[in-house]
Amino acid sequence: MKGKVDALLGIVFGDEGKGKVVDYFTPRYDVVARFAGGPNAGHTIIFDGKKFVLRAIPSGIFDESKLNVIGNGCVIAPDLFMAEAQELETAGYALTERLHISRRAHLILPTHRVLDRAYEAAKGKAKVGTTGKGIGPTYSDKAARIGLRVGDIFENFAAKYEALKARHLQILSDLHFTDFDISEEEREWMAGVEYMKKFPLTDTETELNELLAQGKNILAEGAQGSLLDIDHGTYPFVSSSSTTSGGVCTGLGVPPSSIGRVYGVFKAYSTRVGSGPFPVELFDETGDRIREIGHEYGAVTGRNRRCGWIDLVALKYAIMINGVTDLVMMKSDVLDTFDTIRVCVAYEKDGIRTDTMPYDTEGWTAVCEDRSGWREPLGAVREENQFPPAFKAYVDYLERELSTPISIVSVGPDREATIIRPSAGL
Ligand code: GDP
Ligand code: IMO
Ligand code: MG
Repeated sequence: MKGKVDALLGIVFGDEGKGKVVDYFTPRYDVVARFAGGPNAGHTIIFDGKKFVLRAIPSGIFDESKLNVIGNGCVIAPDLFMAEAQELETAGYALTERLHISRRAHLILPTHRVLDRAYEAAKGKAKVGTTGKGIGPTYSDKAARIGLRVGDIFENFAAKYEALKARHLQILSDLHFTDFDISEEEREWMAGVEYMKKFPLTDTETELNELLAQGKNILAEGAQGSLLDIDHGTYPFVSSSSTTSGGVCTGLGVPPSSIGRVYGVFKAYSTRVGSGPFPVELFDETGDRIREIGHEYGAVTGRNRRCGWIDLVALKYAIMINGVTDLVMMKSDVLDTFDTIRVCVAYEKDGIRTDTMPYDTEGWTAVCEDRSGWREPLGAVREENQFPPAFKAYVDYLERELSTPISIVSVGPDREATIIRPSAGL
């Protein structure tokens, strides 16, 4: 029988805890593959008292018996990749044979990062609040059919690099954005290109399809979140890749018929990093309290994450777009001490109320309902029968509202603090 590709996706604004769940699930799969994004991602994994933050490398890397793949839908910065991989090697993980990189993945040049800064500066107040990793400009060059791919590094690379760099420098000069020096960065980047050559740089789509034909199962690890998707997110305050389940097929080269379960990862509350509409945002001490307890500071940029209550309008939309079969609720423990937990059930603007995602989420306010908190620490809970009754009632309520089972509940950052509910059949 053919294998399946299960997708594990962040279904809100990213940072839902994807890395933790992928790491936890890895023993159940043969391959873990990233299909979109690049070093804008920061996936935190904690086990045995150790903490790692992965950016380009899939979160299946800590199980040394598994193949990890960086797929064609990803963008890769050789210097950052080298630093990330070397950190893992220093920690004792051998990577080279079990980390395959698609030859079709696009390269983030140092000048892409400068362009990212220049475009943001030009937008002024309307800036996206990007991670500054050159994501937008790299995907733009891909779509414009002028980008450089991993497979390009073997032939006449210096000339190809210089040509694209010259084009970028011209744009920067036109924008009067000339106060930068990338010479040091460029040396590190070229060292990264050489370093990458020790990894299998392959046609990963063919490899993955061959593995599926042999009955092997693949876990596709999402990056970012559905509301940051280039098509389905809160455009233009989005990232530049396809972060939703459709992106799994294009970003790995696997057919839609190979997709099995679609796990939608969300937090018991909401966060967003960067600019853009966020109707549930709390500007008061409750927002600060969620940020403090949940340590909601960016894993990549250290920025404060904006915090708010859970948003059922956004979740229903993301469940629809992705075809989520199983929900995964993270960071439930962060709300342990709250007497009342609020839930956004609709948006309102100019007397109009909607419970479906509007075209433009700007200017809408959240309509919330109150639920009673459970007021008990969840951190030590390991089985569903240990759920405090009020927490069980909250989970049941969300499942009803979202018409989708919550199959997994996470109650702490550690690998161990993960509960698979018996009803999930996993
Ligand atoms: P990702 O980008 O989706 O992989 O998520 P991040 O790693 O950026 O952010 C998730 C943060 O929450 C990390 O610091 C995790 O260690 C932490 N975390 C994950 N699950 C839980 C949980 O259930 N409870 C708590 N308190 N922290 C969690
Ligand atoms: P993970 O995988 C949260 C946000 C940025 C910005 C917008 C565009 O860790 O969940 P970009 O640099 O991609 O052009 O920035 O998207 N963003 C993320 N927010 N988690 C992420 O990744 C993100 N990756 C990008 O803050 O608002
Ligand atoms: Mg993150």
